[in-house]
Amino acid sequence: MEVCHERNNTELVTRNLTKHFGELRALDAVSIDLKGCITLVIGPNGSGKTTLINVVTGFLSADSGKVLFEGKDLTNLPPHEIFRHGIVRTFQTSQPLRKLTTLENLLIAEPGYGESILESLGGSWSRKEEELVERAFSILDFLGMEHLWNEQAMNLSGGQLRLLEIGRALMCQAKLMIMDEPIAGVAPALSHTILKKLKELSGRGIYFLIVEHRLDIVLDYVDWVYVMAGGRIIAEGKGKEILENPEVVEVYLGAQG
Ligand SMILES: Nc1ncnc2c1ncn2[C@@H]1O[C@H](COP(=O)(O)OP(=O)(O)O)[C@@H](O)[C@H]1O
Ligand SMILES: [Mg+2]
Repeated sequence: MEVCHERNNTELVTRNLTKHFGELRALDAVSIDLKGCITLVIGPNGSGKTTLINVVTGFLSADSGKVLFEGKDLTNLPPHEIFRHGIVRTFQTSQPLRKLTTLENLLIAEPGYGESILESLGGSWSRKEEELVERAFSILDFLGMEHLWNEQAMNLSGGQLRLLEIGRALMCQAKLMIMDEPIAGVAPALSHTILKKLKELSGRGIYFLIVEHRLDIVLDYVDWVYVMAGGRIIAEGKGKEILENPEVVEVYLGAQG
């Protein structure tokens, strides 16, 4: 297995996470470990993937079980606390943010800082503001979006918006990025670009937990795969081999029928 070493204490572990919605058990004793830098969770619709992300990131509380990160117990902490530990969930760029430029979207990514920097843009910058602007440009450069720095986000393509979300997480110095369907609706060429960027970041020590349906594209880039069905982990393995597992084939065929 490929390993990312620079942050080898960065690990996310869940133990027996359980979450009910009324009678429905959306998570049923889910235990995962981040094995390698890019961990993928797959499974048919309704299998509990988004619920797992919501519980890990504090948007939903677990009924029982644990979420541990770097040895610390983060179970049921509020989202901003989880964020402070370096776990950053990417969201689709919201409507008001779409009126801001690409650069502005990066500058305001850091909560509690953002608005003041926009007010002073064009005026005189503090040292910290200068640093932020420099960091934002180096991120745009890394993402291949430097030429779009002054473009309003609403003029970006779907794939470029996904890259911008990654950029915003980088501004926050994420240790672990959690992404729900990062390439959904993105054309294949740009999907590969996005996944290559994730791979490159993982080589620099950032971990990823992603949920994605586009298995034809995504499986080539991930280090470890968990398969969910009915709120449970039913299989795990490396990359494409997971699709040869008969139980996995069955849940996917079952889901189609
Ligand atoms: N807020 C909620 N209230 C009630 N049921 C929910 C809620 N969120 C998800 N569910 C149910 O929990 C199950 C798992 O959903 P979800 O985690 O969104 O699955 P996935 O992301 O794998 O498609 C589904 O049956 C879904 O209908
Ligand atoms: Mg989902």
